[in-house]
Order: sequence, then structure tokens, then C-alpha cells
Amino acid sequence: MTNLNWGELPFGYLKTDYNIRCYYKDGKWGELEVSSSEFLNLHISATALHYGQQAFEGMKAYRGKDGKIRLFRWEENFKRMERSAHGILMQPITKELFKEAITKAVLLNERFVPPYGTGASLYLRPLLIGSGPQVGVKPADEYLFMVFATPVGPYFKEGFSPVKIAVVRDSDRAAPLGTGSIKVGGNYASSLKGVQKAHDEGYGAPMYLDSVHKKYIDEIGAANFFGIKDSTYITPKSPSILPSITNMSIMQLAEDIGLNVERRPIDIEELDSFEEVGACGTAAIISPIGEIYDIDEDKKYLFCKDGKAGPISTKIYEKLVAIQYGDEPDTHNWVEIIK
Ligand code: PLP
Ligand code: COI
Repeated sequence: MTNLNWGELPFGYLKTDYNIRCYYKDGKWGELEVSSSEFLNLHISATALHYGQQAFEGMKAYRGKDGKIRLFRWEENFKRMERSAHGILMQPITKELFKEAITKAVLLNERFVPPYGTGASLYLRPLLIGSGPQVGVKPADEYLFMVFATPVGPYFKEGFSPVKIAVVRDSDRAAPLGTGSIKVGGNYASSLKGVQKAHDEGYGAPMYLDSVHKKYIDEIGAANFFGIKDSTYITPKSPSILPSITNMSIMQLAEDIGLNVERRPIDIEELDSFEEVGACGTAAIISPIGEIYDIDEDKKYLFCKDGKAGPISTKIYEKLVAIQYGDEPDTHNWVEIIK
């Protein structure tokens, strides 16, 4: 195993040994290729570069106490990437090639899969881009699918401690009939201003409200939002947020521990009534939120007044992570051991 300071890893890019590539040309996908280069040779008129014809995924491989390496719900990432591809008229990758590519990306970089107990994991980044040239606005005829792997620590520097979020009202990430519900790069480009604004104000990430009414909670940066009150787990239903695989899993775990689960619009003013709130996603895992500052309204919502995550968020977090690392039985069949 590589000698890294595993417990101190940030959520960032670190060079690993290999990445996997596959090209779609003349109406068909070719064979997977293994590369040790961190660079692509791309046509100057590729649609990905000019018209944002690209989609990506984010998933993790976890090393258990038993030394085995596990993937979490990879089929859901495949399905979402397929939806993303259809959403912007790209050629989707096949399920078989997706699975083979992510598995290879882990096994060929096995020395970078962090040891059990460090809180770190190997982040996998599948990427699908229009690589064929166009100048008119139309879909490419050629595509490149690739997967790179990089070991990561927590997304928020706080780890599983309360983070501070700022409500951003002067920019939108996505529109109801736009691309917010698929995972395409353009959504992240339009989120950069909000991210910067939150950071400039000293906050960890932006909270977006729905772009029509500016009233209902959409998402938190690159994570879904949830709130808990009266033994109920509540998370937004909105056409402009990314359906999070972590959130989908947490809704099940919440039900398993006897909570009610509601997916519905959440008015920002309802924040006052929540006992616990948090952000969830592959990168964020579950991040408890200690403060939400509505900058333009100059209003602060405070949670975790003792500085710690609430009891229900903690319980769900521990359950989720225990399944991902193989410490608890995988009763929902979410985990696949690949080595
Ligand atoms: N929302 C956005 C905008 C994201 O980028 C992500 C990350 O993938 C999520 C939510 C969380 O989704 P998941 O749990 O599938 O990683
Ligand atoms: C993830 O949670 O995997 C994400 O995609 C977040 C990423 C955009 C930083």
C-alpha cells in the first residue's frame, strides 16, 4: 500500500497509477483501454468543450476491516449516468462497460484504496464526454467514457461536525425544466458563483432555493438537504435537484429505524421548526448543519447548539457508514465486494 497520511486526506485530486478509457466511434463502443497518462488528446471542436456535452458520476470504493474492497450501489450510478446521457443527447455507456471500467479503476489502483478506519475512501469519477467535432449546436457523433480514481477524505473540512451554510439568492444553479436533475458539468459551472459567495461570507457551501419562487429549499452545493422533526425525515421534492443515491439510501435507513419519511417541498421558513438538519451525498456523506445564514434576508437559523450532530443524524450516519465499510449486515443488498 502507498504511504500516505490517510487520516488527513482532503477531498481533492491525487495522482494514481491508471485510468480507464473507452471510445465510441462509427456507431459502437470499443474495448476498454488502460492509461497511465493524466491527459486527454481531444479535438479542438469537441462538443464537450464548446457546448457542455458531458456528464459525470461520483462514487466510492471502501476497504473493510476484513481487507475486502466494496462498491456501494454502483448500479444506481450507472442508471443516473444513463439518464444524464439521454438528457443531453449523448451516447450512453453500456452497463457492462461501466461495471468493468469502475472495477478496473479500483483494482489497478488498489494501493490507493485507503486502509480501514481512516475515514478515507477511493473516489471514482466516471466521465462521459462528446469528443467528436461540431460547430453547429448539435450532438457529437463520437464519445469518450473514462474513469479515474483518487483517494479522498471528507468533503467538508469539519468531517462529521456541524457545517455552516449560506443561502444564495442572487444566482440559480438550475431551472425546473433544465438540467438540474441530471449530473452534467453545466450545473456545476452555474453553481460556482454561489459557492464563491458562500465562501466569501465565511460559509462552507451555498444553499439554493427553487429558482421560480425563491421560497422552497432545493439543494446544498453538491449535496441534498434533509431535516428531521417529530420523528420524521423530510427531504425536498423538486424537479431541479439531483436525485442523490445517498439520500435514497438514507430514506430507507430512516424508515428502518422507525422514522416517517416525507419527500415534499420545504419552505425555507420551515427551517425554524427542524430539530436537526443536514446535507448528504457521496462526497459529503452526511454532514450535520449547525447554521444556515440567509444573507439577503439577514436571518440566521441555528442548530446543533452544543456543537455536535443531533442524535438521529448520528444514528443514520453510523448505520450508513457501517454498511459501506462492511461492519454491518448489508440487508438491502447495496454493497458489492470486488476483491
Ligand atoms: N446534489 C448534487 C448537486 C450533487 O452533485 C451530488 C453529488 O453527486 C448530490 C446531490 C449527492 O448525490 P449522491 O448521493 O448520489 O452522490
Ligand atoms: C459527489 O458527491 O460525488 C459529487 O459529485 C460532489 C462533487 C461534485 C464534488
